[in-house]
Amino acid sequence: MILVTGGTGYIGSHTVVELINAGFETLIVDDLSNSEKEVVDRIEQICGKKPAFLQLDLKDRKKTFELFEKYPNIEAVVHFAAHKAVGESVEKPLMYYENNIGSLINLLNAMNEFKKTNFVFSSSCTVYGQPDILPVTENTPRMEAESPYGNTKKMAEDILRDHALANSAFKSIALRYFNPIGAHPSGLIGELPRGIPNNLVPFVTQTAYGLREQLSIFGNDYDTPDGTCIRDYINVVDLSKAHVVAIKRLLKKRNKSNYEYFNIGTGKGTTVLEIVKSFEKANSLKLNYKIVDRRPGDIEKIWADTTLANNELGWKAEIGLDETLASAWNWEKKYRS
Ligand code: NAD
Ligand code: WQD
Repeated sequence: MILVTGGTGYIGSHTVVELINAGFETLIVDDLSNSEKEVVDRIEQICGKKPAFLQLDLKDRKKTFELFEKYPNIEAVVHFAAHKAVGESVEKPLMYYENNIGSLINLLNAMNEFKKTNFVFSSSCTVYGQPDILPVTENTPRMEAESPYGNTKKMAEDILRDHALANSAFKSIALRYFNPIGAHPSGLIGELPRGIPNNLVPFVTQTAYGLREQLSIFGNDYDTPDGTCIRDYINVVDLSKAHVVAIKRLLKKRNKSNYEYFNIGTGKGTTVLEIVKSFEKANSLKLNYKIVDRRPGDIEKIWADTTLANNELGWKAEIGLDETLASAWNWEKKYRS
């Protein structure tokens, strides 16, 4: 059985689908602070198999220990549960450190106690900041984090590295996601931001649906081909499959060291305007947008070198941008109706 924390969330739910499709039994643990329980039924609709579900706050150390007592057959953990809004983390840093670091420590302590050794962690390209040389490899130095959220990812990686150094039996893989977008082709699960979306693609789909008047593009005077920022947008289903591969690597003891980390992206940089154009083309519609000032704190450009994940994990992003943006639109329409 694979324990998936944060498994009713955006990336977690897609990963549960891929784990079930790969034949794994799954247990979702989520406090539903940023997701809905209905996702469990939707996963069942997609896979024909229902994941086990437990509503639990991983900040609760006692309940986290009880979880491992109750489910002795947990073979591995994929840890998604965290708060993830960069702006909110600047306003409420303690909340972010308490949840993102506190939950991780509880989980690792419980795993230690119950002799569970396989751990996959959601890290982020945010650990690189604005790199000098592109694309970024895993050897690109990590930068001072720009937000408490980013710092929780950097700290979590350090905690995993140190824990692995001190415990040779414990094995973990951190996956540094670039920008996850899109939704399952069924349109039954997808990204569901609460309130006004911070991220580009949910803002695009909500604008197309008429929930937002206009997309604001933050700056067109960057040093990029069309002046807008560049990111590496990775389809959430492709991203989810990387977790299945990481779990198999740990279970088959194919890992080369007991703390490994990989870039998970497409290897290709895309500008904001290219996202808009691809969205319009893939869905045969026009998007209302305007260029506004730069967003403070934005990174100009970043994309991944994925050679290590390609060679070591045997994983590669496969789904193209047009198809991904069609899936995002399909999800938005289906969800709203
Ligand atoms: P999400 O908010 O959709 O999912 C996270 C889930 O964790 C939610 O369902 C939430 O209810 C749950 N959760 C939060 N705190 C919890 C706690 N204390 N106990 C139990 N459950 C808790 O976010 P997501 O986009 O699916 O992100 C998943 C992970 O990937 C996070 O760790 C995030 O930081 C990381 N990540 C996300 C992105 C992105 O752009 N979405 C990029 C890089 C890394
Ligand atoms: C993408 C591009 C914006 C909204 C965030 C987190 C990071 C990581 C990924 C978790 C940028 C532009 C956006 C809009 C716009 N998450 N944009 N108008 O900034 O790469 O990173 O998500 O670990 O930590 O900070 O993603 O989707 O916010 O922005 O023009 O309304 O779209 O300026 O260039 P970002 P994003």
